Amino acid sequence: MKVFVTGGAGYIGSHTLVRLLAAGHDVCVFDNYANSSPVALARARQLTNREVVAVEGDIRDSDALAQSLADFAPDAVVHFAGLKAVGESNDIPLLYYQTNVTGTMNLLAAMDAAGCRRIVFSSSATVYGEAQYLPFDEEHPIAPTNPYGRTKAMAEGVIRDWATATPDASAVLLRYFNPVGAHESGRIGEDPQDTPNNLMPFVAQVAVGRRARLSIFGDDYDTRDGTGERDYIHVVDLAAAHLAALEYSARATGCEAINVGTGQGITVKELVAAYEAACGRPIAAEIAPRRPGDVASSYAATAKAERLLGWQAALDVDDMCRSSWKWQSENPQGYDATTGAGA
Ligand code: NAD
Ligand code: UD1
Repeated sequence: MKVFVTGGAGYIGSHTLVRLLAAGHDVCVFDNYANSSPVALARARQLTNREVVAVEGDIRDSDALAQSLADFAPDAVVHFAGLKAVGESNDIPLLYYQTNVTGTMNLLAAMDAAGCRRIVFSSSATVYGEAQYLPFDEEHPIAPTNPYGRTKAMAEGVIRDWATATPDASAVLLRYFNPVGAHESGRIGEDPQDTPNNLMPFVAQVAVGRRARLSIFGDDYDTRDGTGERDYIHVVDLAAAHLAALEYSARATGCEAINVGTGQGITVKELVAAYEAACGRPIAAEIAPRRPGDVASSYAATAKAERLLGWQAALDVDDMCRSSWKWQSENPQGYDATTGAGA
């Protein structure tokens, strides 16, 4: 199958790319490297011994996007490209709407022009907002609490309307919970450009000595140990979910939103303990005030993914921490400090 992957050099995109190439699919990555490095693509080529077409371009540039998509003539699209920092989305909301919503509209128009009718979209559990009940199932009300979340909810709506209006269209909206971990080779992984916003990359940077200590945002939540509980999903399992979604899109039409998580909540303290076991070092941590906007618990109902995609998570929190540590310890400065592209 020919697959056009926007944002394919990014964290989740690069892991999915490796999986797609390893399965024998032909891939074109379209990315402006706003939050990634072409070194990730070089390493994906090395890991799989396969070629990948790479186009440097911006999904806000509708002409360039349409041209690339028409040139490649894909059977399906996986749409990762987007901006994802919640805090930043409060400060520069228009850039978030332009990239995440207008970019998605440009992509659908380009697909229409090229006669491509299958899309798998990177959505987020953040579209649910405050939990009215747990686990979150796909019928939970959509009520995002920040601009980033609203761009994802809007993009979902645009894709759903497009699928309704387009004969034979198939759209899968994958709502990721908390993606973490890295490829088992240690060659690709998460490489935040600034101070990490998310827990696991922060813990990894403390473990490797780039940061002095972790701040645990609140230990007075109504959870097992008082710290926030999340559904961490191994990025390699997440990559497999994309292949399952692509297969599903070949046999079903319409639009489906599907959670991608393990269904299990892990607290901050539990994750830190698992990371300490994986890296064999203590992780310095202190209790800090709650982070505004955080919720006590979030975890997925996973039955729909199992039913429609035949997919479920196979890797556990120890696998997540071990693979993260291998990546972080072998690439302490991420992709930038490597000696030459693809080294
Ligand atoms: P990432 O930043 O590593 O990857 C996004 C990729 O899109 C990067 O390679 C970036 O350079 C590219 N990109 C950004 N703006 C672009 C533009 N205008 N044109 C072309 N390319 C552009 O992020 P990720 O963690 O791999 O996330 C991938 C997708 O999954 C995003 O849409 C994100 O919102 C969504 N998501 C991520 C998480 C998470 O925790 N990582 C959770 C839920 C949903
Ligand atoms: C965050 C985003 C969410 C996004 C998700 C992607 C916010 C408010 N929400 O969610 O929109 O979909 O990432 O994975 O940013 N923690 C600490 N110390 C830290 C960092 C985090 O204690 O330095 C705690 C948090 O309070 C939380 C848990 O770790 O309890 C996980 O945090 P994080 O990795 O940021 O993910 P989410 O809050 O679930």
